[in-house]
Amino acid sequence: MKEQLERIRSAAEAAIREAADEQTLEESRVRFLGKKGELTALLRGMGSLPPEERPTVGALVNTVRTQLEEALKERFEQLRAQGLERRLRAETVDVTLPAPEKPVGHLHPITRTRNRMAEIFTGMGFSIAEGPEVESAYNNFDALNAPADHPSRDETDTFYFSDDVLLRTQTSPVQIRAMAGKTPPIRIISPGRVYRSDVADATHSPMFHQCEGLVVDRGITMGDLKGTLDAFAKAMFGSRTRIRFRPHNFPFTEPSAEVDVSCFVCGGKGCRLCKGEGWIEILGAGMVHPNVLRAGGIDPEVYSGFAFGMGIERVAMTMYGIDDLRLLFENDRRFLDQF
Ligand code: PHE
Repeated sequence: MKEQLERIRSAAEAAIREAADEQTLEESRVRFLGKKGELTALLRGMGSLPPEERPTVGALVNTVRTQLEEALKERFEQLRAQGLERRLRAETVDVTLPAPEKPVGHLHPITRTRNRMAEIFTGMGFSIAEGPEVESAYNNFDALNAPADHPSRDETDTFYFSDDVLLRTQTSPVQIRAMAGKTPPIRIISPGRVYRSDVADATHSPMFHQCEGLVVDRGITMGDLKGTLDAFAKAMFGSRTRIRFRPHNFPFTEPSAEVDVSCFVCGGKGCRLCKGEGWIEILGAGMVHPNVLRAGGIDPEVYSGFAFGMGIERVAMTMYGIDDLRLLFENDRRFLDQF
């Protein structure tokens, strides 16, 4: 029995000495001193000893137990101190280090261009109107005076859901919505997405953005249209910018024009940005056709108006010097981070 006790004592002492952390040490404590531990088992076995030997062996076992308990306590404290030391060293905070930079995103160039346009026009007294991207063929074509055989109606150009429902090919149907049930003066712009059945290339995309504008009131003239667009161009592209009207044809305006701005890089001399032209086309415009006013419930004998439609990508690409439309939709951060 004494030999057994010595064996347990030296095994326990070794285990205590070698325990590298508090958990291992606790495991050793349970193994030797716990209720089902080896020392306890030994005590239980005392019944088999002759009665006269029991007191000495009992005392011996208790001495060993006390010694081991003390060794355990000491080792626990040592380990705890070491652990604390280690954590203090590992978790030192250098308060002089600069904080890691948090990446902050920014608005997409199209959003920025649209916001700037909205800012300029709301500053001139326009409000912002909205219309759905899924439109009726009536609002997108018929109410806008497009003849039944107008090429834009062709299925190869327009995404149709049915004969009567389509993805709007222009923001112009918002003109009809803005007039319906309202009494002039009407002064709105409407930026939004439009869709055309085009294959994506450097200058085409099946989805792109336009910003529509509509003013209807008594006595609105082409002079108001020119003045408004001139003020817009100067605010958007710089105070030296000029505008130029070229005759054009749209079913919903009469007369109609395509409008260019003088190149803000070369000022009109011709350069790479304007491809030697000196001018950059940014929008279509004109005086609202009487049939369109009528479709909007407005009497063309009393009121007149002007409308324009601007390509937002076109403006963004010009302003930022972007040469491929697809870059605006690929969401490649290497591209977007440049703005
Ligand atoms: N809706 C025309 C287009 O998509 C632009 C436009 C709008 C022209 C309003 C005149 C008046 O090309």
